Amino acid sequence: MEYFETHDHRLYFDGVDLVDLAGRYGTPLYVVSESVIKDRCARIRSEFLEVYPGSTAVYASKAFQTLDMCRLIQSGGLGLDVVSGGELYAALKAGFDPAKIVFHGNAKTVEEMDFAVRAGVGRIILDNLYETEQVEKLGAFYGKKVKVLYRVTPGVDSHTHRFISTGSLDSKFGIPLDTSVFDGYMRAAISAPHLEFRGFHFHVGSQLFDNFAHLAALKVVLTLIEKVRDEYGLRTEELNVGGGFGIEYVLGDAEPALSYFLAPMMRLIQSELGGKGIDPPHVTIEPGRWIVGPAGITLYTLGAIKEIPGIRTYVGVDGGMTDNIRPALYGAKYHALIANRADGAPDRLVTVAGKCCESGDIVIRDIRLSSPRTGDILAVFATGAYHHSMASNYNRNPRPAVVVVNSGSARVSVRRETYEDLLAREE
Ligand code: LLP
Repeated sequence: MEYFETHDHRLYFDGVDLVDLAGRYGTPLYVVSESVIKDRCARIRSEFLEVYPGSTAVYASKAFQTLDMCRLIQSGGLGLDVVSGGELYAALKAGFDPAKIVFHGNAKTVEEMDFAVRAGVGRIILDNLYETEQVEKLGAFYGKKVKVLYRVTPGVDSHTHRFISTGSLDSKFGIPLDTSVFDGYMRAAISAPHLEFRGFHFHVGSQLFDNFAHLAALKVVLTLIEKVRDEYGLRTEELNVGGGFGIEYVLGDAEPALSYFLAPMMRLIQSELGGKGIDPPHVTIEPGRWIVGPAGITLYTLGAIKEIPGIRTYVGVDGGMTDNIRPALYGAKYHALIANRADGAPDRLVTVAGKCCESGDIVIRDIRLSSPRTGDILAVFATGAYHHSMASNYNRNPRPAVVVVNSGSARVSVRRETYEDLLAREE
């Protein structure tokens, strides 16, 4: 766990006292470390972009998107992946260079495609024939040639929760590589005068700890690159290999090095295509969680402690599935500490219960904490990705604030929602 320290029994993150932060800004609170994000962007530069000239990296902003985050990513030298009109709107508001934006989505609406073409996003990743036709029409309408890639389904299963596995054949994402349909897709893209077909994209799944699925998918796509050269005389200029690189959530999850995924992929591209006289395409990676997951923690205040003799002890917190849907959705597991007793022995086995009216709203089942008491501050680790961005208002719970910490300083990046905010859209 990066950037954590204990002073005077209290937990500090990126130089900031978390107990003090909870007192100042209230709980539940998302705390995001700018230093961790900057470090991780720097690692992407030094371990990937600088090692493989011509490659690019875009941040999958669905993981965590705020105006501040868009600016940090831009200054970190990365592009941005957006998947909706809303994400695109925010990115542009943040001043993100549209040419460095990649627009994704398996069911883009006409309005979203129109917005993306008008804004001049760098790439549109087409997911189906309908989008190919629509984007061609929009290109004609605006007098633009739109750079596009096809997202393909390589037909490999990744070793992760099935809700976050995306590369298998029966998937709502991507184009099936079945010849009976694929030819139609290729012809449509190549013959469209307002589309510039650049290449392919695949994303096999998320929170992966082995490189098997990436490599298996890559093999399939390299064969495809050869096929489109042979059958259509087409050079694949670009290959986007998605994200999915796993991070540490609980102690013992050893985060693989980026190079563990990327080095064998880059070698395979060189060896497979080089042998066939095909120039290797420019490679793009698209990590989300890897950049921001370890940069975030969530602070809660402990409420009631309820012991069910012989069964378990529930410790209630002032948040839950509204700020972290991942345990309910994927059975995700987390590590946590009492921030005001950070060096205390983890002597009591408890279950941390969220406050929503759902039995499944459990933040952490069975964790040892240091003598938890009502009023303690609980810090749950690795909540930077897919927490804020997946938050809801179930039970009319206001969404937490986001505080950005950086080398001892703290500032509010997104203010806490108020009860008034909750009614703002009601007529
Ligand atoms: N590229 C594409 C096309 C994607 O669909 C995704 C994630 C990424 C990149 C980034 O994947 P990452 O590097 O973050 O693993 N809500 C789930 C994760 C859903 C991921 C969706 N797509 C979770 O909380 O685990």
